[in-house]
Amino acid sequence: MRKILTTILLAGAVTSTPLLNAQQAEAPNPEAPWWAYGFQWAPKAGEEARECGVPTPISCFNPRPIPQLEDVPRILPGAPKPFSRKQASEWWGPADWYPNDHPAMPDIVSKGAEHKGVRACSLCHSALGKGRSENSSVAALPAAYFLQQLELFKTGQRKSADPRKLNTKEMIAMAKALSPEEAKAAAEYYASVAWTPRGKVVETANVPKFRSAGGLYLPLEGEATEPIGMRIIEMPNRPDDLEYLRDPKADWTIYAPVGSIEKGKALATTGGGKTMACGVCHGPNLKGLASVPPIAGRSPTYMTRQMYDMQQGARVSPLMKAVVAKLTNEDFVAIGAYLASLE
Ligand code: HEC
Ligand code: HEC
Repeated sequence: MRKILTTILLAGAVTSTPLLNAQQAEAPNPEAPWWAYGFQWAPKAGEEARECGVPTPISCFNPRPIPQLEDVPRILPGAPKPFSRKQASEWWGPADWYPNDHPAMPDIVSKGAEHKGVRACSLCHSALGKGRSENSSVAALPAAYFLQQLELFKTGQRKSADPRKLNTKEMIAMAKALSPEEAKAAAEYYASVAWTPRGKVVETANVPKFRSAGGLYLPLEGEATEPIGMRIIEMPNRPDDLEYLRDPKADWTIYAPVGSIEKGKALATTGGGKTMACGVCHGPNLKGLASVPPIAGRSPTYMTRQMYDMQQGARVSPLMKAVVAKLTNEDFVAIGAYLASLE
């Protein structure tokens, strides 16, 4: 039976239509945006990341043990000097690739606080604050907003709607361990770092096959693709530089379903009867207004994760609650693609 089926399927591949239809039917159309959390399926009952412990080390991550990382000097484009993979991933002082591109870092950002197990903020968010899809871009965030969010993490009012998301648990543990002075120094530092564009949106039916590394999507070798379905999949253009050298200037290709940007634009600019025009609070070009954060051009994976967290009540936000209440996965995909397409 299996052999006959395989033969039919293979024949289908040549004559095309039957197999194409089968493939389209398989395109993932999740009801909730689990893709934004690094997963392609909903959490199963009891599936949860372990809690991050205080005291030290806070990390409940399982990073490659640093001594095992390669210690051969390598260079990133335009960087004044080389660092090794091992140096790029040091917990208490990761490589500062572009020292001329940012103001002087306070210790909490460049080194963290080893005695409390708080790893350097720049390890995950980078010295330039661009962050990555599985964490957050913190460059040019208003300092008051940054401090407000640390407070929410600390008081249990900001969690992840996906219990599997380990690095949010680490972020919460760190927020609890920071002194007010350290929090303020980090907030003021990142508020002073300039924002730079991070990537282009490509509307497509298929995406390169990929794997998830702690929520970061990395393309697999080869030409194989899979249907995008109702998801945004963003991947770095130089995956090895990002994964192994923690490239702070990574640029991304952001794959979104065909037609997303237009649909998202309609929702974000008019509300479309489902939500509210974003510019009212986030400023006319969505670059932020007073202490309301900028949302243009940032990671659509992160943006969607936050909107879903707010909808589910995992992240408390009195003003955003009504904005996201009626949005579906398809709306999140559309809004995410539109926001990412803005300069
Ligand atoms: C292990 C990686 C990691 C480290 C180290 C880290 N963060 Fe984070 N941070 C995260 C993740 C992940 C998120 C997003 C959480 C989510 O999406 O649920 C985040 C989000 C944030 C946000 C919210 C940004 C926004 O737009 O709302 C702030 C503020 C923040 N981090 C500050 C810090 C500070 C300050 C430090 C250093 C003391 C730090 N982080 C170190 C992983 C990290
Ligand atoms: C009524 C005012 C208001 C409107 C309208 C609004 N927002 Fe917000 N938004 C906020 C505020 C304020 C915050 C900061 C978080 C908080 O205070 O809870 C925020 C935060 C966010 C965040 C989290 C940013 C981060 O760095 O974590 C996202 C994403 C977001 N808004 C998206 C949108 C989108 C998309 C729209 C339009 C569809 C929109 N917002 C409309 C007030 C608004």
